[in-house]
Amino acid sequence: MKPLARARRALATTLTRPIPIGRPLPPKERAAAAPRGPDWVQADPDRIDAALARALALPGGGWYAVDASRTLRAGATPRRVVVAGRELVLWRGPDGAPHAAPDACPHMGASLSGGRVDAEGRVVCPWHGLALGERGFRDWACVPVHDDGVLLHVQLGGEPALPAPPLPPRPARPVDAVIRKIARCEPEDVIANRLDPWHGAHFHPYSFAALEVLDTTDDVLTLRVAYRVAGPLQMTVDATFHCPGPRTIVMTIIDGDGAGSVVETHATPLEPGRTAVVEATLATSDRAGFAVARALAPLLRPAIRAAASRLWVDDVAYAERRYALRTQRVGGQ
Ligand code: FES
Ligand SMILES: [Fe+2]
Repeated sequence: MKPLARARRALATTLTRPIPIGRPLPPKERAAAAPRGPDWVQADPDRIDAALARALALPGGGWYAVDASRTLRAGATPRRVVVAGRELVLWRGPDGAPHAAPDACPHMGASLSGGRVDAEGRVVCPWHGLALGERGFRDWACVPVHDDGVLLHVQLGGEPALPAPPLPPRPARPVDAVIRKIARCEPEDVIANRLDPWHGAHFHPYSFAALEVLDTTDDVLTLRVAYRVAGPLQMTVDATFHCPGPRTIVMTIIDGDGAGSVVETHATPLEPGRTAVVEATLATSDRAGFAVARALAPLLRPAIRAAASRLWVDDVAYAERRYALRTQRVGGQ
């Protein structure tokens, strides 16, 4: 090789060499029972399906994540949402209390999302002014709402009730950001995507430089992942994935920078073949600079949302493909 070509190659190698940043991790320990072999062998469809079946059997309490809490402002125009085939109207009273109810006025059926919120926290029908609230009217009644500070959840029937949605432990005072994406699939396809971490470095090479599953015990997937921060900068953390309920899967950073941070992915059925992916990132850090990050949260939020959205472009495609395959909706030009 000529000296110039050699110098060019050396320079290219230097520029593209990964630069690890962040806290060093202890030597990785792979559980004896952890899957072996290339990623495509480890990503055993039977094992993923069995883990999915166990997740789907968990109690959900009838709770469904709707969107970020901050998307519903006190006293603002009511919002229409569809959850599990039901049309609901959501609103917040002037005191900040969230409410949800069927989006059909009990008088003549007007959509209440076209109405307004009055000073007493009731939704006022746009057609003839009937004010409706927690007291209900005839067979029109509010449904339970849970505001966990980051997400809004509504409780519908069809499952044994729980007093609150099944959520994982969350970090104290995190920087939080929420995205909501619509996918042509069922919730199980979204959960199945996250129960397959082996696709990470292959399908999202722009985000993950390396990903290794270290353990799969008790339906908790433990992995070491090197993610790309910017250019050649890479940060490696240990993380787990687990399902606290049938429509939720959570990634928790357990070691490395940002330990204690979680990403909650909620899959909410809208109607058959349509699902909302509601994902909350709750970031924390014990680094001194995190207080500054917390103060700058409104500025950081768009970047966190952009990173999460980018991953979900691919993951929605994965979930939709899975849905199409299992419902035989593949084909056509
Ligand atoms: S339809 Fe709502 S008040 Fe008449
Ligand atoms: Fe993915």
